[in-house]
Amino acid sequence: MSQVAISKCLFPAAGYGTRFLPATKAMPKEMMPIVNKPLIQYGVEEALAAGLGEMAIVTGRGKRALEDHFDLNVELEQQIAGTDKEDYLVDIRAVMAQATFTYTRQKSMRGLGDAILTGEPLIGDEAFAVLLADDLCLTEGPGVLSQMVELYRQFRCSIVAIEEVPAEETHKYGVIAGEALRDDLYRVERMVEKPPRGEEPSRLAIIGRYILTPDIFDILRATPVGRNGELQITDALAEQARRGCVLAYRFVGRRFDCGSVPGYVAATNYCYQGMLAEGG
Ligand code: G1P
Repeated sequence: MSQVAISKCLFPAAGYGTRFLPATKAMPKEMMPIVNKPLIQYGVEEALAAGLGEMAIVTGRGKRALEDHFDLNVELEQQIAGTDKEDYLVDIRAVMAQATFTYTRQKSMRGLGDAILTGEPLIGDEAFAVLLADDLCLTEGPGVLSQMVELYRQFRCSIVAIEEVPAEETHKYGVIAGEALRDDLYRVERMVEKPPRGEEPSRLAIIGRYILTPDIFDILRATPVGRNGELQITDALAEQARRGCVLAYRFVGRRFDCGSVPGYVAATNYCYQGMLAEGG
């Protein structure tokens, strides 16, 4: 728990993406593009910008496209070598040059906590980040993971990203309650996964960015299944908060729920407008 630098980012990517069927029937939801870049690549770029170079991806059946995306496509390279089409590959080539990738498969969908536990062999005994690629977070300054890594350097404990959401939406999220240490930082006292309407401890919802200390793995192993019969990271974090300290950080930036059609369309429009403004 004492190391300062974090180098690994875990991407739970085994989910079915049912809200995007039939698009996600044969294609991983993490490969859905926002304009011309898949969601998973936005996530990897955010991790790299935060200084995390080792990507640990928890996949499942039907997710091979993720591995192919971060590997060379020799035929394509030969076809477009020397043409102006190579410009389209600048970003992904940079990602491939800077990052390493390891993969493991989650055999059955038993929740986010189970996905994270499945990734333990790729992480080992060190603090790490978790990024849910369908929560796309865009910022003008440092990315959300960069902001959180900076906080981790100071506090050395698990940190979750939070955002205030309307009361009628809290039932879709993990929700925290805690003591405010600053305007943007809380020490977590309670944490509830998808509270029934009217029972939410606050309107502060957990967004798909976490920094976790490695004791979370043992806690997860001892955590009973929770909401929806799944092993919930929220429940393990609530236990970690009881034993020590978990922080909740209200990040600077804009987040799009790209796991839902309205959020996905909003993100696409937002990014396309940005590209037009840049003259792209
Ligand atoms: C997961 C977490 C939840 C969190 C959410 C953020 O839920 O279990 O606590 O608020 O991600 O996107 P899911 O959206 O996978 O149901």
